[in-house]
Amino acid sequence: MLDTTTSLERPSPQWIFAPEVRAQETRLFDRSPLYLGPAWHRPEGFLRVPPWAHDLYLACVPDKTPTQQHSPTQAQVRSNVCLHWQADILQASGDGFLSFNPSILCKSHNAVYSAESGKLLNPHLFKQSCTHVLPPVPTVEWQGFLFKDATWEGLSSHFSLRQELARVEAETGSLFRAEGYRLMKTIEMEQAGNWALFVLNYLDLMHVDPAHSETLAQLCDCSYVQSYPGLNFSSELQVPGRWTAVQQVDWKKSWGEGSSEGWNDPDHPRRGKAAFHQWGKIYREAKGNPPLGSVWATIFPHLMLEWYPGVIVMSQVFPHPSDPTRCKVYHDFYGEQDLLEHPDFLAVQQVAFHATGDEDESMVGSMSRNLMRFARRGLNTPTGFVHPQLEDCSPFYYARLIEVLSELGVTL
Ligand code: FES
Ligand SMILES: [Fe+2]
Repeated sequence: MLDTTTSLERPSPQWIFAPEVRAQETRLFDRSPLYLGPAWHRPEGFLRVPPWAHDLYLACVPDKTPTQQHSPTQAQVRSNVCLHWQADILQASGDGFLSFNPSILCKSHNAVYSAESGKLLNPHLFKQSCTHVLPPVPTVEWQGFLFKDATWEGLSSHFSLRQELARVEAETGSLFRAEGYRLMKTIEMEQAGNWALFVLNYLDLMHVDPAHSETLAQLCDCSYVQSYPGLNFSSELQVPGRWTAVQQVDWKKSWGEGSSEGWNDPDHPRRGKAAFHQWGKIYREAKGNPPLGSVWATIFPHLMLEWYPGVIVMSQVFPHPSDPTRCKVYHDFYGEQDLLEHPDFLAVQQVAFHATGDEDESMVGSMSRNLMRFARRGLNTPTGFVHPQLEDCSPFYYARLIEVLSELGVTL
């Protein structure tokens, strides 16, 4: 049985590759929350099958009220699994958005459902009695974003998505409010790196300066850090029921003042750095100085809510179905509407984001391959911390991982 009393030590990371742990990954993710998309409709309405959750769809009916009386309605979320032979009803590619249609058709055998109510509209199709409504999916709306709800009991704590989101809000105020932002891009990527190590690297502020010196560190100043639960968790061991880390770092006062030449040239050796400075120029000219450099809110086990000046990114990572040294990553990028009017804003932000992501991928990918090899050979390489303050959130994540895996019956 796992010894949770030692959870504040950084466990030997190849533990993540133990067959018993990997066997429970699906069960862990089955009970996890999901980010789904924008909660409020565009005037023309939409349907969305999120690229990371084909078994459900969002339906937002068109808004027919005059602009002055605009009263946005929240998207409904229902099962996308046909009641006949359980095929996917709606098929979507790319960002998963489809134009709104009051009825949706399962092409397998022509079952037709109301998009809004989920009711089967041609029940005569079924010769025997069966349920005739696509079940609703429980959701949580938070600051204009929609999530699939999740709650569970752990060994010593209780997980509630609402509670975790309320915690993020208590610590970040209105920073994550979707109002004034527009979804500008959705990205689906398979990349090198185990999903849990991806999150642990994401929580690690220690790597920002050395690993991202020419990219993210042009924007972020980690000498000012505010993080929860962080060291508070390590010292007190008492943040019962807490499943979220919130890290806020300052912005570097030189952001946007360096050269931005070459940001649009794929062969330029300093493209990432140039993109960060071009982003800074556009932002500071339009809006002045940003309040912070970045805010990262990580909700166990895999949701990452990211705020950067002018941009909110809703990110999620999932295990790769067959290769534990790889993962699937999804991002929804929201841009502040006034900045999106700048012709280069989206492009420059994407170059900056991917230049940073490539650096993370090379680090987490190699860590994963090496640790997997060590785990196969039965080697154990416990490690300590280089900088407890800048690595303060990883003991928390390990502890929660151990807690939930124990609850799922993992014995190591
Ligand atoms: S599976 Fe949808 S109509 Fe048969
Ligand atoms: Fe990184």
